[in-house]
Amino acid sequence: MLTKNMEEALNKQVNAELYSAYLYLSMAAYFESVDLKGCATWMYAQTQEEMVHAMKIYEYINERGGRAIMDAIDAPKNEWGSALEVFEHAYQHEQYVTSLINDLMDLSISEKDHATRIFLQWFVTEQVEEEASASGVVERLKLAGESTGGLFMVDKELGQRQLPIPLPQKK
Ligand code: FEO
Repeated sequence: MLTKNMEEALNKQVNAELYSAYLYLSMAAYFESVDLKGCATWMYAQTQEEMVHAMKIYEYINERGGRAIMDAIDAPKNEWGSALEVFEHAYQHEQYVTSLINDLMDLSISEKDHATRIFLQWFVTEQVEEEASASGVVERLKLAGESTGGLFMVDKELGQRQLPIPLPQKK
């Protein structure tokens, strides 16, 4: 059984993961609007990953006899000035999510909730990857600089990211 404190904190994290999905979908929509289809594909994959993160925590709350509560999801930003600005935002956001996971981990330790601590270890590892993949794209875009050719090369590369769930086919 989860303590009330832990249950509320995990529910907040479900909301934060759903917000992340919403933010990345907003970034995908921005990339669609500027015809950077590869960057959009990368963001669709990221959106789906965030949904998986949210569902993992949702299922864990249920498994531990808690009650998952769906709260309002904040509206994300919709406009950015460049692909680099978008990925810098994504990288900052992942650093913020890491801090949330670390806070949850601290709470599980202070509450002596060992099951939740072990459950959260997956997220600690996942955040290392999440930060590395966003900052990797930031670095590649910085190298591309003002060159349109460079940007298109990065876009092509990002378009190769596999989507966990295929998008509906366009008619
Ligand atoms: Fe669910 Fe990108 O952290």
